Amino acid sequence: MHIDYITPNDWSIIEDGWNPNNVKSSESLMALGNGAMGQRANFEEDYSGATFQGSYIGGVYYPDKTRVGWWKNGYPEYFAKVLNAPSWIGIKVIVNGESLDLHTCKEVKDFRRELDMKAGVLYRSFKAILQNDVEIAVKATRFLSMEMDEVGAIKYEVTPINVDATISYEPYLDSGITNEDSNWDDKFWNTLEVSENDDMAFITAHTMKTEFHVCTMMQNKLFIDGDEITLSRKRSQKTTTYVGHEYETDVTKGDTFAIQKIGGYVSSLNHDKGGLVAVATDVLNKATDLGYDALLASQKEAWAKTWEMSDITIEGDTKAQQGIRFNIFHLNQTYTGQDSRLNIGPKGFTGEKYGGSTYWDTEAYCIPFYMATKDQSVARQLLTYRYNQLDKAIENAQKLGFTNGAALYPMVTMNGEECHNEWEITFEEIHRNGSMVYAIYNYERYTGDTSYIPEMGLEVIIGVARFWRQRATFSKAKNAYVILGVTGPNEYENNVNNNWFTNYIAKWCLEYAFEQAELLRDTAKEDWSRISGKTHLSYDEMLSWRSTAEQMYFPYSEENGVYLQQDGFLDKELITVADLPKSNRPINQKWSWDRILRSPYIKQADTLQGFYFFEDHFTEEQLEKHFDFYEPFTVHESSLSPCVHAIQAAKLGRMDQAYEFYLRTSRLDLDDYNKEVEEGLHITSMAGTWQSVVEGFGGMRVKNDTLSFDTKIPNAWTAYSFKVNFRGQILKVDVSKNETHFTLVSGEGLQIIVNGEKREVLPA
Ligand code: BGC
Repeated sequence: MHIDYITPNDWSIIEDGWNPNNVKSSESLMALGNGAMGQRANFEEDYSGATFQGSYIGGVYYPDKTRVGWWKNGYPEYFAKVLNAPSWIGIKVIVNGESLDLHTCKEVKDFRRELDMKAGVLYRSFKAILQNDVEIAVKATRFLSMEMDEVGAIKYEVTPINVDATISYEPYLDSGITNEDSNWDDKFWNTLEVSENDDMAFITAHTMKTEFHVCTMMQNKLFIDGDEITLSRKRSQKTTTYVGHEYETDVTKGDTFAIQKIGGYVSSLNHDKGGLVAVATDVLNKATDLGYDALLASQKEAWAKTWEMSDITIEGDTKAQQGIRFNIFHLNQTYTGQDSRLNIGPKGFTGEKYGGSTYWDTEAYCIPFYMATKDQSVARQLLTYRYNQLDKAIENAQKLGFTNGAALYPMVTMNGEECHNEWEITFEEIHRNGSMVYAIYNYERYTGDTSYIPEMGLEVIIGVARFWRQRATFSKAKNAYVILGVTGPNEYENNVNNNWFTNYIAKWCLEYAFEQAELLRDTAKEDWSRISGKTHLSYDEMLSWRSTAEQMYFPYSEENGVYLQQDGFLDKELITVADLPKSNRPINQKWSWDRILRSPYIKQADTLQGFYFFEDHFTEEQLEKHFDFYEPFTVHESSLSPCVHAIQAAKLGRMDQAYEFYLRTSRLDLDDYNKEVEEGLHITSMAGTWQSVVEGFGGMRVKNDTLSFDTKIPNAWTAYSFKVNFRGQILKVDVSKNETHFTLVSGEGLQIIVNGEKREVLPA
């Protein structure tokens, strides 16, 4: 852990005291989003110290041409990058002719930032003595409206403390921005028009190649001690990609000069390209008519509603409480389920890494959170996203030589096309394809919505089954189907044969495809004839799936009584992580890739991922054996690792270990376990954190259309509670040291299973 400056607090992320080394970390930790757009917590005023500037618009990306040392056939042409979007938050602050810049001030005092997660508002305050000896007190408040998702608002206040001062604000828009991550230093944005309408300003720009048109907008109001004032406006156009409005006034010592800036984006994702400025004008009019205070009030209301359903309370452990709310807050900021073209990038709106694109993380980790804390339509949107990309997945498989409608979903994507260009991942990390089907199964199991499979899901299931059927090779030597040349979830092994998890999920997909297709054939003739006609599916083909599944090979060690992660795993030098000197870790930063590949070290749950997905297929003794065998070799260097282990440790009753994993997943970014928080947050693993409480400590599962619980509580906690929406009924679970209480918050009555026994929860 290398950062430890966040003050423990139940509802807020607080940084107290000025330390320029924390700027980039806090920019990530306190990032804001509203599902449609997001931004790092960059300062409004100029800052010449180390910073990572980032504003992002969901779904707006650039196809950056792939850059590799050695081109291999089948590589994708480009890597889709989420774009640093034109900035609307900037406000230049000039005090008696000197620009406010915390990097060059004589002194910064009482610096404090607070991300108030309850309200979805970011606060910052400080006092600064400028080089010209003017001392000012500054307060900045900012939020991205959940209600009007094209709009954000800032209130910025300056009070001269020691002298009267001439202060000028120059709120501005700037499309002259770049990405930190760019393969060829291409220009990503082209500015088309800088325009104004009275006190509004607009910059219309489009992305190169993808032609997303975006109008960035602002409108400003000024106040002295809370009273609105009118000042003459000077236009400032520092470059062709910049527009500022300068307002200057004399401020008496002790008075507060404030600016309210409403800004944001409208884009061609949702509006006609031609009329963006007119749309932006309407949006600004609507927002400023409402006014800053009303927008802020509706922000608080929107978040109160969100928390009402998705909050998890933890008593007796402030750090754990802060951790879980931090995770839940960011998940809600990143994805709201309103647009099936959007998804949950591993960094959400907090950084550029991972291209902002969609990974298997969504299907493997995120779906349960959204299923249980939202209306089922939200999770269904995530499934629909993949359904809409099925044709591209089929194309993607065709490029690699697969036929007959086999579908290979990409490892990383924005619009369905594969973007990852390392062969060991693109071509080999194919277990991702299974997670698409697993998510459909998981969705139906949880929501009971049986309409998704006939409407959309079955086509995906068929495409994926066809892929596995073709990807498996019959080995005469083993008299079984094998899957060669893969990378499992543990990316610290490449090009291995018979990764157990991959073979297992492939077998399961083939069986599930057979069952679901047969079920539809027997029960829904119309759907069946539509889908079988469209996919040219025959019963013989279905039988071939089943027989491939039946003959799938699984590496097993009789001696250890465990399935092997892959062929040859026991040939490794099996030194556990505990015996590895600390100075060697994290191995992905300390060791060569070559050394990592030969080692037994496991990046994240791999065999255990299979035991997580398919827990019911194994006994608890088997889980324990595999956990004891694999966890000691696991370095947990993926953010996705601790959550699965937390759930399994809790299942096995190892509460201390489960708690340790819980803290690691929930405070991964807050305490910067992976030493990379400056680059952005780990959004997708945050859903895993939610699971580690609900499925881990709460022991929640769905079995035969019924919720079941086996609740436990970590020693450090006195109580905790969570709510789930199960098929339209809302159940609250309160766990304390001695008892568990179930309350039906809404619904007619719910049968549940508690520690193996049936119980009925009736409306309170
Ligand atoms: C993990 C993958 C994951 C990706 C994005 C990698 O480090 O190994 O499983 O999909 O990050 O989160």
